[in-house]
Amino acid sequence: MNLLIIYYSREGSTGLIARGLSQTTSGTLRELVDSRTMANGGMFRALLAALLGLGTTLVDPDYTVEPHEGVVIMTPVWLGNPAPAVTTFLGNAHLKGKRTFIIAVGGTAGNPGAISRMEKRLRAQGASVVGHGEALGYIPDPRAVRPSDEELVAEGVVLAESVRKAFEPQPGSPVGPAGTPE
Ligand SMILES: Cc1cc2nc3c(=O)[nH]c(=O)nc-3n(C[C@H](O)[C@H](O)[C@H](O)COP(=O)(O)O)c2cc1C
Repeated sequence: MNLLIIYYSREGSTGLIARGLSQTTSGTLRELVDSRTMANGGMFRALLAALLGLGTTLVDPDYTVEPHEGVVIMTPVWLGNPAPAVTTFLGNAHLKGKRTFIIAVGGTAGNPGAISRMEKRLRAQGASVVGHGEALGYIPDPRAVRPSDEELVAEGVVLAESVRKAFEPQPGSPVGPAGTPE
């Protein structure tokens, strides 16, 4: 399976989990870069945008997903929502007919709201969602123990199994034009 792994990461944990996933699946990594600086009130505006379901401006955005057969979309969770960079990607990418998998990275692994909002956007773009997963990143509390880089990469390695299974053709699923299961 030729996977594209799209991710945004402000503090680095989502990026490390994405790295583990790409190492295990041989997927291509593509980082989304938010053009807004997080200094001088930028973080407050970014959080407000996340809460309102708004996007941002990306640096050198690449919205093409061809020739990848599957797209994994990874976001940190901010106040129960996907990061604005990911919202912008979902609003602009050419995802019609694509099979996608959502991964939400949070300080807790219980963010169904962020996942269902992303799912809604993906379906509105004509994509199908074959599955979703959650991963533990940094806990936004200075007293909390931070997972090490190695632990975060290992989370991506573990997630690869559910991603691989979700993209496996299901019995009775449609067959693509070249005779290969979609
Ligand atoms: C302002 C802010 C709000 C957050 N809100 C949530 C949340 O609602 N749920 C959650 O599980 N984690 C939340 N987190 C934790 C982040 O999702 C977590 O630290 C994640 O690992 C950050 O990803 P990154 O290192 O790739 O930037 C929040 C973090 C920040 C800074």
